[in-house]
Amino acid sequence: TNPQKKSAPQSSDPCKGCREIIDNVIERYSQTWKKQEDNYQKFRSQLNSKCRGFNKAIITQANTPVGSKLVYDGEKRRSLQVTPEIFSTFVKEHPFSNKTWGTCAVVGNGGILTNSSCGQTIDSAQFVIRCNLPPLKNGYEKHVGNKTDLVTANPSILVEKYGALMAHRRPFVDSLHTYGNSLLLLPAFSFGHNTPVSLRAAYTIEDFGSPIKPVFFNPEYLQRLAVFWRSQGLRAVRLSTGIIMASLALELCADVHLYGFWPFSTHPHGFHPLTNHYYDDRKTKMKFHAMPAEFDLLLRLHSQGVLRLHLGDCR
Ligand code: CTP
Repeated sequence: TNPQKKSAPQSSDPCKGCREIIDNVIERYSQTWKKQEDNYQKFRSQLNSKCRGFNKAIITQANTPVGSKLVYDGEKRRSLQVTPEIFSTFVKEHPFSNKTWGTCAVVGNGGILTNSSCGQTIDSAQFVIRCNLPPLKNGYEKHVGNKTDLVTANPSILVEKYGALMAHRRPFVDSLHTYGNSLLLLPAFSFGHNTPVSLRAAYTIEDFGSPIKPVFFNPEYLQRLAVFWRSQGLRAVRLSTGIIMASLALELCADVHLYGFWPFSTHPHGFHPLTNHYYDDRKTKMKFHAMPAEFDLLLRLHSQGVLRLHLGDCR
């Protein structure tokens, strides 16, 4: 059976039929992994030509001049004309153009990382990408590491945890220390309500002199990526941050390793119950994301030697 076709259980749902799905995954996962250079090059060049993440993923002053029109990828009828004020918040040059990395780790937030001891292995990657401002201190470090070169921030976190940055902003700035001078990637132009809070995040970082570098997803890139994955058979309202970052990594890095990607509520080896995240059990918005279907596609890339999924412990 194919996990994509079954109504696979999400983390912490009663795991009916889990065993069958897991057995199938394990069977596909258990073959010795070997990078298949041809498959990797082919997939990468498809992504390069269709999505152009290496020079389009992030809005810059070079690719988005004053007066250009940004079309929101989550609300197609909404657009925004770039004013000098907004333009001033854009990074000057694209952080990735003409740059490639050897090994990259993309860290999803799945509960599969709990007690994995994968921290050191993750941190040994040249470039480490994390999703949604995840906690790294208080005992998590051993299992998830702390090196961060790029971290995404969903504006909903800024709203829920930091009062949408409408009042005191120091707690937000303090929380960013964990990520050092990494890039902070915000989907400022995906939905209308994302824009003001993302701009406030950028202004706050500048005003407080925080070393983190705020940058914005280019909605055109997100749109192209959604079309690309649809052409690969993915039916989802929105791509998850994890698959977006895995896709970008495939354009930027020779060896892509994924950790914390396991949208099921039972561990694939120990069969013990798992929380949705390694730090809490907050559920995924199933209305928007099709994480089990995304996982199936990522597992396919793993089997083809394009990228490497890590489902086991790193001891
Ligand atoms: N993830 C996963 N399995 C889980 C939890 C998360 O594979 N049990 C991956 C997903 O690709 C997800 C990423 O890790 O996008 C980051 O997790 P999370 O912060 O939970 O993302 P969400 O808030 O659910 O959603 P979004 O993708 O919209 O940011």
